[in-house]
Amino acid sequence: MTEASSPANPPRKSLKEGGTVVPVREVLWGDDAGVRKFETAAELPEEMRDLIMRLMVVQADTEYASIQQHRPWLDCAPTLEDRWIQARIVADEARHGLQACRILRDFGAEGEKRIGELLRTREGHHKLDAFNIPFDSWADVGAFTCLVDRVGVYQLRAFQECAYGPLARAMPLMLSEEQLHLNFGYNVLRRMSREGASYCGSREEAQEAVEKWYPRALDMFGHSQSRTSEMAIRWGIKRWTNEEARTRFVAEITPLLESIGLTPPATDWHRRIL
Ligand SMILES: [Fe+2]
Ligand SMILES: [Fe+2]
Repeated sequence: MTEASSPANPPRKSLKEGGTVVPVREVLWGDDAGVRKFETAAELPEEMRDLIMRLMVVQADTEYASIQQHRPWLDCAPTLEDRWIQARIVADEARHGLQACRILRDFGAEGEKRIGELLRTREGHHKLDAFNIPFDSWADVGAFTCLVDRVGVYQLRAFQECAYGPLARAMPLMLSEEQLHLNFGYNVLRRMSREGASYCGSREEAQEAVEKWYPRALDMFGHSQSRTSEMAIRWGIKRWTNEEARTRFVAEITPLLESIGLTPPATDWHRRIL
């Protein structure tokens, strides 16, 4: 793979021009770089089709799970603004779930079957551990949105210029909404750490919540030696290996947390997926 077309360095035409992301019609990296993107489920090679379906099921599952996690805080968040943002997050996640399911719908009967399963999934039965843990405190809400939603953004960024056109085009709005979620989470942790009881909670509670969610957030990137993630890069679906994305995340979040008096635990602490 050449430097110019590597996943981390897509050609210039994929980048922002005059503040807007220009839609790109050709595959930007992997084995099919330069070829027109896939635009319908029917034209996808079978293995790629299966992978996109699996990725969309996990994506939608996380969106619907997080609604269940946020729901109890809709009328319990400490300030008026926090309540409004809870409601906004729930609406955004519902829209993201719908977008992922619309992509699944294009996969015909198999996609419809997966959608039915998604609609029936109850709390505690979701695919990723981070989405089966209830928010027991306001600090949990802050740490989850700051850390777990941020991992979600890495996943969405990977899809942003991917080889499947309908998926790539769903990303810009989802990404801007997710940005609000993770900024909100960071603000909650910052206020808890700096303002303590005059806002809600304390620095110690914020630190405890960071320690609870950080290992689950790192697990979300998947196994370091995942063959699927290597294949996803070759097929132009993902941009980075699991370990590359995890390393970028750690480099981003560590100084952010430290600047508000919080310390992330070691990257292998309480991890389940390595
Ligand atoms: Fe979302
Ligand atoms: Fe979110």
